[in-house]
Parts: sequence; structure tokens; C-alpha cells
Amino acid sequence: MKNVIVGQSGGPTAVINSSLLGVYKTARDRGADIVYGMVHGIKGLLDREIVDLSTRLKNDLDMDLLKRTPSSFLGSCRYKLPEIKGNEKTYEKIFSILEELEIYAFFYIGGNDSMDTIMRLSDYAAIIDSPIKFIGVPKTIDNDLAITDHTPGFGSAAKYIAATTKEIIRDGLVYDYPVVSVIEVMGRNAGWLTAATALAKGEDCEGVDLVYLPEVTFDIDAFVKRVGKLLKEERSIVIAVSEGVKVADGRYVCELSDHVDYVDAFGHKQLAGTARFLAGKIAEKYGVKTRAIELSSLQRCAAHIQSRIDVTEAFNCGGAGVKAAFEGKSGVVITLKRVSENPYMCITEVADVHLIANVEKKVPREWITDDGTDVTAGLVQYIMPLIQAEITPLWINGLPRHIRLHAKSTIK
Ligand code: F6P
Repeated sequence: MKNVIVGQSGGPTAVINSSLLGVYKTARDRGADIVYGMVHGIKGLLDREIVDLSTRLKNDLDMDLLKRTPSSFLGSCRYKLPEIKGNEKTYEKIFSILEELEIYAFFYIGGNDSMDTIMRLSDYAAIIDSPIKFIGVPKTIDNDLAITDHTPGFGSAAKYIAATTKEIIRDGLVYDYPVVSVIEVMGRNAGWLTAATALAKGEDCEGVDLVYLPEVTFDIDAFVKRVGKLLKEERSIVIAVSEGVKVADGRYVCELSDHVDYVDAFGHKQLAGTARFLAGKIAEKYGVKTRAIELSSLQRCAAHIQSRIDVTEAFNCGGAGVKAAFEGKSGVVITLKRVSENPYMCITEVADVHLIANVEKKVPREWITDDGTDVTAGLVQYIMPLIQAEITPLWINGLPRHIRLHAKSTIK
């Protein structure tokens, strides 16, 4: 008997369900009996919120819809497992549920915080000599996981961001008076996603005027002066700024305006309001029309513009996770390795979870221009293959069709 269990954790993406499908189909193909899903990740497992995925994924249409449905089908959580020492009861509870379900392998689709869960569970399994395998399947729009070339979810978010930036640039040029648009992009302390706005530039598009990544300290006075200079030269100015930019004293720019008091279990502050704050500074100083455009959740759930490369790689990472487990591996995360640029090709490998959990991979300084207001051609070339090709949504009644997990499918 080989039952497996899979969960989704952290912020969602447009392709996280392709990884879920990769785990589901590959586990079934390799002879797993029941593929369970944790509803709301490890938190749901502790609450015994578990679903038999075959009750919801009955045919090819369900699976095609799953691939095209954004966000985490099983629900997610931002839940940090406690230190093992002193909290053995929590681990005993998790392992007794897994043993009761006769679980052979446990898959967790998530980012660097979620890999902390795989690390702790595989460490505990080693302590008690449990045969259960624990495998991390990478996912995050932030693209900030160590070792892997990139993360599933990033390519589709980058595609949405670049396409939307092109549209914002066209819109900004419509009037005969100045408009300053500030686009705020997610990514926390890594600027990979913000850099994707640079892909907008081409023969049909002027491109963004300024790009600010969190890897460079943000200087508000220099920013205001730079926009003042641009206002003398151009009618429409479009600026991309990461939600995670910080001033010299270490505070996030968004903390300068709003009182940010929401902090998640991993100690991350909710970042929002950077664009509004900076647009306000420009309006105050120059009296021009400004727009603050927070891409917010739109950039991570835009399944109508999924990158086909991203969908395929997300599926492959799920499948590679199952292969690794069935080959006896545990305490590892699937990674992507770029083996060819032209044609672009990535293969999957595995890496020790201890090298990935809780580590943030930042944009290298050499991929940011010296003045810190743009990215280099090298960074654009790195991102470009990841946004290639499309998947057509299943349009029903003029809208993309999705699949939902019905609460009644939960078993206790
Ligand atoms: O971790 C991915 C991410 O999308 C970050 O870019 C962003 O800062 C964060 O999640 C937002 O998380 P939440 O959905 O918990 O507000």
C-alpha cells in the first residue's frame, strides 16, 4: 500500500495547481493507492482536514481545469511548525495522523518558508527513524528560492506584469498633459518580479522609465529629483517599484505612510502602500496627475495569461517530487537547472532542503544598473524564456472556467 499526501502552502501562484496535478498524476501512474490532499496545508493536517483527491479529480476535464485554475486548489496557510525540541507533541500528532493514513510520502508545494516545514518534518523523521519521505516542490512568484534556476509561478507572474506594464504605458500617453504612474510589484525582499516590468520595452513600447528593486537602498529625495528631471523631458512617466524597497535606516518605504501592523507567522510584515506613498510625494512636489497602481493579488492569480513554460515546469516539478520519493529520497526539494539557453531548456534535480529553507535569493547586484534605477540586459534575457507561450483558458459564458474544492469533500 502506497498512499501519499500533498499540501500547498504560502502565497498562491497561477500555476501552483499544475504542480498539484504533477504530484497527483505521477503518484497514480506510479501505483499510489490514495492521493490525499491537506486542506490549508500543514495547519489543515493538524486539524485533520484531509481530502481524497480522486473524489474531486474524476476525469480529464477536471484535470485540465485544475491546470487552468489559479491560486491553491487545496487552500493554503502561513503556518510555522515550532522547534522540534520542547514541542515533540506537535510532531507526534502529525506523525500519528500520517501513520493512520498509511502515508508513504508527503509533498509540500511552497516557497522558502514552506520548505521550513519539510526540513523540520524530515529532521523529525530521521530522529524517530520513520520511513515516511518528505519532499519539497518549489513554488513562489517571488523567485527567491536558493539553488534552483527559478521557481514555478514566477514565469506566469512575470508574463502578467510585463503585459500589464505595456498596457499601462499606452494608457499613460493618452493625454496631452503629464501623468506619473507608479506600479507597485510584489516580491518581498527580492526584486525579480519588479525586474519583469523591464520586459515591456520593445519596438512597440517605450518601456518603463525607472525600476527600483529592494536590493538597492531607496533614496526618496533622489527619487523625487529624478522624476522632476524626467517631467521636463516626457509627458508620461511610468515607474516600477518593488513593495520591498527600504530606506537607509532599514524601514520599508510602505511603513513610512501606513501603520503596518499585520505580521505573519514567519515574521513577515504585510507590504503595501509603497506606490501610493511615492505617488503622493510626486503630486505634492510637482502638482501633476499621478496614479498608484498596486498589482497586488492580480499578479499572482492571473491564470488567463499563464506562461506555458511555467505550467509545464510546475507540473514537471510535482512529478519529479514523486519520482524522488519513490526512489527513496527524503528531506529534498526539487530544483530546476537551466541546461540550454537556445533553445531554452531546464531539467529537474534535487537539493538538500537545509540549503533552501528560509533562505532568500536576491537579484545579483551586477544585474542592476550602477545608479540603481534600472536592470541590465542580462536580467531581461534570464527572464524572457520563462514567459514564453500560452495556455488557452476554457472559456465558458465569456469567462475562464475554474474548478473548486467543495468543503463537503473533506474527510475527518
Ligand atoms: O510570498 C509570495 C508573496 O506573494 C509575496 O510577494 C508577498 O509579499 C506576499 O506573498 C503576500 O502575502 P499574503 O498573501 O500573505 O499577503
